[in-house]
Amino acid sequence: SDLSSLGDLRGKRVLVRSDLNVPLEGDADQQRITDDGRIRASVPTIRSLAEAGARVVVTAHLGRPKGAPEQRYSLAPVSERLGELLGADVAFATDTVGESARSTVAGLEDGEVALLENVRFNAGETSKDDAERREFAERLAGLADAFVSDGFGVVHRKQASVYDVAQLLPHAMGDLVATEIDVLRRLTDTPERPYVVVLGGSKVSDKLGVIDNLLGKADKLLIGGGMVFTFLAAQGHEVGRSLLEQDQLDTCREYLARAAESGVEILLPGDIVVDTTFPTGEATPQPRVVAATAIPADCLGLDIGPASAADFAAALSGARTVFWNGPMGVFEVAEFSDGTRAVAQALTEVEGLSVVGGGDSAAAVRTLGFDESAFGHISTGGGASLEYLEGKTLPGIDVLED
Ligand code: 3PG
Repeated sequence: SDLSSLGDLRGKRVLVRSDLNVPLEGDADQQRITDDGRIRASVPTIRSLAEAGARVVVTAHLGRPKGAPEQRYSLAPVSERLGELLGADVAFATDTVGESARSTVAGLEDGEVALLENVRFNAGETSKDDAERREFAERLAGLADAFVSDGFGVVHRKQASVYDVAQLLPHAMGDLVATEIDVLRRLTDTPERPYVVVLGGSKVSDKLGVIDNLLGKADKLLIGGGMVFTFLAAQGHEVGRSLLEQDQLDTCREYLARAAESGVEILLPGDIVVDTTFPTGEATPQPRVVAATAIPADCLGLDIGPASAADFAAALSGARTVFWNGPMGVFEVAEFSDGTRAVAQALTEVEGLSVVGGGDSAAAVRTLGFDESAFGHISTGGGASLEYLEGKTLPGIDVLED
């Protein structure tokens, strides 16, 4: 493990950047964690540092607060859950680099763990101004003797706690980041064929780079989720009230044309589960299955239909390498979860490497009750795994290798 490069950690204050950005529900002052996968994935590195005698100072973000404290983005509930999973007390600092952080860190004994309040409560964290970011990173670095980068989900962000702080302290890559990179490298270097990619989620615009890159690499591209309606519209179909990114129509047309030329099969759903009322408040969903080529004007597409789910499962059945990012529908609502469930089920049956990438798809497989061990790898990174597959440089990795 790269952690050994930091030498004897006994008594050292080690700042660990984890990705503890978990989904929450409930009122601002009574939030409940709906999927703790990222916290659990962060435990091994934190535990091994504590066991090595370090004074572990964890820093992380939650949501996208605008550089100032906001109750609903407090890491307090995460701190509690982290303590339960570690089986040890976690000292929670109510600020990130202020008085509370300093005294909390000063109070740590060897082998103890502290969590700092949401790092994005500080404008310096996400600032585009290098000097401002650097100044904040210096305050973070002042709390520690060494830095461990273990938040894979944020390594694509050039932010103070991910990037700048690594330039200020002796640093190492955490085991979670190392594992994630290993698996993703297997997808990009020499994937076993057939290589099938399933993309979903709401927006095409989030997936442009990855589609672009995969058109030269994957054998089949299965598309579902909200983004599919822009593809259907690009083919000239009516999509009713479904999500539609007007400004991406040309891009989708170009992708379809390029796929046809290069022999990559793009599979779009033939049927769609729609509703007219969703998401208007309390109304009970009235799901209906319609042809993807004839979505009625008053309908909103919310999942791929049963025939498409079967087609997707069949396309996945012979695959030797699969990457899946993005749910097929609004899986949080039972009536619109079947498409996502069918894809997840098909992935569990893949003989070869199956990778679930992305906060939402990872949360989906867990909330739908799948056993995580049935998948080859469930990535903790959404945007990060996509950018890796796009072939982009990840600032949080780059800075460690320099
Ligand atoms: C994620 O949820 O993908 C990571 O935690 C990164 O969050 P961000 O997109 O707000 O930077």
